[in-house]
Amino acid sequence: PEYDIAIRGGLVATSFGAARCDIGIKDGRIAAIAERIGDAAQVIEADGLFVLPGGVDTHCHIEQPEANGTVHEDSFVTASASAFAGGTTSAVCFIPQFKGGGILERFADYKARGAKGMLDHAFHQIIADPTDAVINEEVPKVVAEGVRSLKVFLTYEPLHLNDAEFIKVLLAARRHGCLVTVHCENYDAIGWRTRALLEAGMTAPKYHAWSRPRVVEREATHRAIALAELVDQPIQVFHVSCEEAAEEIARAQARGLKVWGETCPQYVTLTAAHMDRPGFEGAKFMCSPAPRDTAEHARIWEMIRRGTLDVVSSDHCGFSYEGTQGKAQNGRDAVFRDIPNGIPGLAARLPIVFSEGVSKGRIGLEDFVKLTATNPARIMGLYPRKGVIQPGSDADIVLWDAAKKVTITNALMQHAIDYTPYEGLEVTGWPAMTIRRGEVVMRDGKVQAEPGSGRYLPRGPYDLVKPRGITPDGFVAP
Ligand code: URP
Ligand code: ZN
Ligand code: ZN
Ligand code: ZN
Repeated sequence: PEYDIAIRGGLVATSFGAARCDIGIKDGRIAAIAERIGDAAQVIEADGLFVLPGGVDTHCHIEQPEANGTVHEDSFVTASASAFAGGTTSAVCFIPQFKGGGILERFADYKARGAKGMLDHAFHQIIADPTDAVINEEVPKVVAEGVRSLKVFLTYEPLHLNDAEFIKVLLAARRHGCLVTVHCENYDAIGWRTRALLEAGMTAPKYHAWSRPRVVEREATHRAIALAELVDQPIQVFHVSCEEAAEEIARAQARGLKVWGETCPQYVTLTAAHMDRPGFEGAKFMCSPAPRDTAEHARIWEMIRRGTLDVVSSDHCGFSYEGTQGKAQNGRDAVFRDIPNGIPGLAARLPIVFSEGVSKGRIGLEDFVKLTATNPARIMGLYPRKGVIQPGSDADIVLWDAAKKVTITNALMQHAIDYTPYEGLEVTGWPAMTIRRGEVVMRDGKVQAEPGSGRYLPRGPYDLVKPRGITPDGFVAP
């Protein structure tokens, strides 16, 4: 036979629009797209299904060690199963750095963890301590290993950078052809709020949202953009939760700056009220920035439609509700400050964006594909190997049943976490089959893939992160 696999009769979302056609797969890649292709060893009938590029989730905390000695509970194996269950085939994860430590010493260990999973994966490098040794000696080495994005936090106690440190990272990224991805919230403002709330006895999970209102996100977003503009360095603002932060990005884009904005399913489904559940229950919804309210969800959709926010990632965090590594690691009566931030969402991402977006008429099918696969792959330098159905690309494909109605349960997420914040959410649209590099890795919810079959995706230089060569006054740092 001419092909290893033929996918016949589906509505295929190609790079040149959606069309009813066949796809031929050979040696793990897309070999042909045509109205009718030739013989194949295996035929997959896709009548009545959408045929979409596998999801590319460019913001996942998988098996990530934290400064306090805990490790995010999803391993690369369990996270891969969860990803495949939800139609995602590749992810970008985070190599940690802790204050006082280097980055290279972490790289080999973390890469070895990634190699045990089934997902194709690339890495962001967290910079939490930009010493001269790290910036001058170690960053070039991780770049040579295929890392092309540096992640910085403008808040969180053990991770946050001040402006001088942030500028140092921006300049290093500029020198080495990396994107900088930024967690934008104001550290000192949140610290002041947190102390004031705790002193007033306002300690429950719901006060997490009170400790970090929209304005602290808007301020840090504005500052991150201003400093990136000053040194002429492209950035992506992570997990935008509100219109006022997105407006900062829109203004930057209107000035022609290379600034992109990511949002997440939690910012179109969860609200601060979720954290106001009795007892410790609210911890299940604690993430940063904090979910806002239903009116904000509509504004986020508007910013997606305008193209200001052009990527939806999960920001998957493996903290279980029970257990010593999870939400209750400091006890179930811990004050909100001491409950780890982040929620699991790898498997729920595509179903939520499809259901809330396409099924409810807020966006079209092509927008869905761009938000969940093509744009993340482009922005992270993985395109066109990932994120698109076109000849030569990896055969990462999800067959999508647009009519299927599902009530989300934790079991459907297939992760190692004991809860999902989306329990009970009804969605229309669900993955029927996931194919990774020409191999069926999920069929009707059953994940079948060999641990260790996931490939590391080293990234090379790419045009999108080239500086513009323009600064506000013409001064360019050496
Ligand atoms: O609350 C969140 N988002 N935790 C994960 C780490 C981060 O800030 O992205
Ligand atoms: Zn500090
Ligand atoms: Zn973050
Ligand atoms: Zn994150």
